[in-house]
Amino acid sequence: MAETVTIIIDGEKYEFPVITGSEGEKAIDIRQLRAKTGYITYDPGFGNSGSCKSAITYMDGKKGVLRYRGYPIEDLAENCCFVEVCYLLLNGDLPNRSEYQRVSVMLNDHSLVHEDMQIFFQNFPRSSNPMGILSSMVNALRSFYPELMTTEEAMEITFMRLISKVRTMAAMSHRISRGHKIVYPRPDYSYCANFLNMMFDSPVRPYEIKKEFVDALNMFWVLHADHEQNCSTSTVRGVGSARANIYAALSAGIAALWGPLHGGANRAVVEMLEDIRKNGGDVKKAVERAKDKNDPFRLMGFGHSVYKTYDPRAKIMKKMCDKVLAVANTQDPLLDIAMQLEEVALNDDYFKDHNLYPNIDFYSGIVLRALGIPVEMFTVMFALGRLPGWIAHWRELMDDPEKKLFRPRQVYVGETERRVIPIDER
Ligand code: ACO
Repeated sequence: MAETVTIIIDGEKYEFPVITGSEGEKAIDIRQLRAKTGYITYDPGFGNSGSCKSAITYMDGKKGVLRYRGYPIEDLAENCCFVEVCYLLLNGDLPNRSEYQRVSVMLNDHSLVHEDMQIFFQNFPRSSNPMGILSSMVNALRSFYPELMTTEEAMEITFMRLISKVRTMAAMSHRISRGHKIVYPRPDYSYCANFLNMMFDSPVRPYEIKKEFVDALNMFWVLHADHEQNCSTSTVRGVGSARANIYAALSAGIAALWGPLHGGANRAVVEMLEDIRKNGGDVKKAVERAKDKNDPFRLMGFGHSVYKTYDPRAKIMKKMCDKVLAVANTQDPLLDIAMQLEEVALNDDYFKDHNLYPNIDFYSGIVLRALGIPVEMFTVMFALGRLPGWIAHWRELMDDPEKKLFRPRQVYVGETERRVIPIDER
């Protein structure tokens, strides 16, 4: 017999079905709760609410497990490039050689950005935040590609167009912000090598593409590619639930990612480490401040809504720091500070009691710095990695026969009914 849960309200019993996920996670199906009982649930941040059924990514926050389509993140980071992982997220399986070649050709074919769009870039003030530019430009793409995605083929072209062009646009925004000439994508470079080349090639100093840097970038983007119903992905799904077009939904996702509690944390970590370094490197003081409830300061790159243990992606990222710094032939003083900070925090009772461990952003900025990526581009790098995840979730939502317009309820705590007093009598 199907499992149910009984809820008793004012002595009356109500039964609700239980849904069990493929990894054994249980959810009480409360879709009929309000209709049957008149009650709603109260769950700010939705930490206890499943907004959908999804077959894309599995996380176990207690054990530190992350899998895309069943594959452990460690396995993917070690053995797959970003394009393979894009294919996996969008199609459910890793590509074979000919499928891989086919999508690589499509990514190449769709890598150019409409020349008219360059005018938009040129007109943003130089000091604009690249996340704002990216969000606007992705929304604007819809005007250039208004085709309806009514066939499988049209859908795939749109996805490949987005994955390829958004990367080109990100590199363009960096070049223009520096007053440098745009570098076009090249057909003979891989997805990641192309991005590095578009960012850094110069007529006076040709960019030397190091294999280790390309590997590091692949790994960086693989680690960021999806993370189930996080803030930006839920935003993409929320906008998509109103049947807005995919460009609008992704543009909103980029805006959500911008926030320092979400994707903006990778930049905030480096700024925090820099501050600690400038103030003499006292990591204990930073930990004390983070514990002080009268101080709004938080240890950036620590804590996670789901992981109550070490973020599995942070472990991989930490190892990558040493590798890229060795190839870059440089020492980053921020790495030492990060490692000291981690040690002090992990041995501190407050951090232990609150289950606060390093998250992906704690070490990712150090990897990006070693690749030469400027700090204002850090969150854009995250967005480029998360793009296939957002698209996969948008697609899954569109295909979901149980999809509903996002419309949470609220507990109203404002004034009860009252009458307007004419303005001169108030
Ligand atoms: N430093 C100090 N204290 C913290 C931190 C932190 N980084 N994170 C959480 N806490 C404390 C809170 O003060 C709170 O303490 P209290 O219960 O004694 O009042 C408790 O831990 C729970 O905090 P919440 O904000 O309710 O926990 P939540 O799980 O919702 O927060 C979040 C997760 C937002 C990521 C939080 O840990 C944080 O602000 N971290 C710093 C920002 C960051 O690194 N964000 C990146 C997350 S990963 C990503 O989005 C890619």
